[in-house]
Amino acid sequence: MEKKFGNLKIIVAADYDGLSATAADIIAGQIAAKPDSVLGLATGSTPIGTYRALVEKHKAGLDFSRITSFNLDEYFPIKQSNDQSYMYFMRENLFAHVNINPANINIPSGEVADAKAECAAYEAKIAVKGLDLQLLGVGNNGHIGFNEPCDFFPKTTHHTALAQSTIDANARFFESTDDVPKHALTMGIGTIFQAKRILMVASGAGKADIMQKLFFGPITPQVPGSILQLHPDVTLVVDKDAATKLEGI
Ligand code: F6R
Repeated sequence: MEKKFGNLKIIVAADYDGLSATAADIIAGQIAAKPDSVLGLATGSTPIGTYRALVEKHKAGLDFSRITSFNLDEYFPIKQSNDQSYMYFMRENLFAHVNINPANINIPSGEVADAKAECAAYEAKIAVKGLDLQLLGVGNNGHIGFNEPCDFFPKTTHHTALAQSTIDANARFFESTDDVPKHALTMGIGTIFQAKRILMVASGAGKADIMQKLFFGPITPQVPGSILQLHPDVTLVVDKDAATKLEGI
């Protein structure tokens, strides 16, 4: 099922596999239309199926050789070799399985001493390249990247403290909550917003409330992703369970 609300297109898939296939089709379409696309990528559990589907498409001929990627965020500090780092995640789930040029992979480094300089350099590199399509998940609290609810929309790539709700949500990947990193480097809302196209994926009943708030509630930095209501080209791909509270669906 597909519906348009102004600049927002909502696609409701039957289930997680359908969502993943649809999101991968959209990304593959972007690559077909522009083989040297700059893709903004996300981690988290939701895009794993999308990456799996993209790997299958690569086996069938989808060419990543001219693609440049910029990931949304990385824990800080963290070694790239740590199996919880987002660099590790991206290698495991996508990069090791497609023909992307390693020189064209960009993820903020959690290994540097100077986080501020790393963020400024990352922002500058994105500004030069531009983002053709940004893939996003969304936190239960409405965060995109690691832009947590606060009193303003952070503009550029920055060093941030994670919200307790994010630390709790991420604890499922670690042995204990104490092991979850408390800080991250993340693209800002302005960085994300400059992408020509936004593709958001959300799955499961746990995301139903935030879906409604994000796209049909007030635009507020307390729900950071609500800013996407102002973006000219947003596609939201949800499964049925995440769509139950969406207005008009
Ligand atoms: C990941 C990221 C986060 C996640 C969000 C949802 O790079 O920036 O905003 O997209 O926390 O995570 P999942 O998909 O695990 O529910």
